[in-house]
Amino acid sequence: MHFFPETGRLASSRNLSGRLNWNGVGERVDDGVTVPKHALIAHKLTRLRDKNTSSVLFRNLAREISQILLVEATRDLSTHDDERETPLSPFTGASITPRIGIVPILRAGLGMTDVAHEMLPMARVLHIGLFRDEETLEPVYYYDKLPTPPNVDLALVVDPMLATGGSAIAAISRLKETGIEDIRFVGIIAAPEGVAALRAAHPDVRIWLASVDERLNEVGYIIPGLGDAGDRIMDT
Ligand code: PRP
Ligand code: URA
Repeated sequence: MHFFPETGRLASSRNLSGRLNWNGVGERVDDGVTVPKHALIAHKLTRLRDKNTSSVLFRNLAREISQILLVEATRDLSTHDDERETPLSPFTGASITPRIGIVPILRAGLGMTDVAHEMLPMARVLHIGLFRDEETLEPVYYYDKLPTPPNVDLALVVDPMLATGGSAIAAISRLKETGIEDIRFVGIIAAPEGVAALRAAHPDVRIWLASVDERLNEVGYIIPGLGDAGDRIMDT
């Protein structure tokens, strides 16, 4: 099964994860995977995919789609009472309790990081450097600087593409090694294969996506996808 938010079309009855459901109001969701159906996402994603979209516009669209997804991904964060005063009276407000880490998977995850940091200015940013070996599609580690024990309670892993799932699975395994327990993945486009692999490897990690596309092609690219996200963001 895959869902294109641009058309609201479910293009196949095949259910690749065995768990994903359609809730009948446009949002595909199970206990771990949320694909919000939102007109702005559909509109912006169409332009993000378009091969004629410039790198400048691509970055803006990726930021805007990420912002909508991040609103959803942080909806249920725990809060505590925060006593403050307006110019007229005291009031009991709320502040987010967990220490949050934004974790871009380099490079393409950087395209989602600034907007996440603007929305969560109290968050730390923890980088993980991974690239896919083009032959084997296996993730290759080249950088991280993660504190052990961790100095965040919740890691929001951001990477626009979830293809085979190898990069996200490796990054999340590394975060777990440092002791972070609450981990969420926010992507833009996924292949059904990547969603299934990530759910199988890390069933405790919830996932937010703008679209689950049709399939991976023979060289591990998402179809229809948007091409190479890192190249389009960095204009390389
Ligand atoms: C892309 C993307 C993900 C990964 C997804 O990164 O940003 O990190 O591929 O593929 P997977 O699910 O099969 O692991 P890439 O390796 O192209 O590196 P880049 O961001 O530096 O371009
Ligand atoms: N990485 C990308 O940037 N695009 C894909 O389609 C797959 C992996």
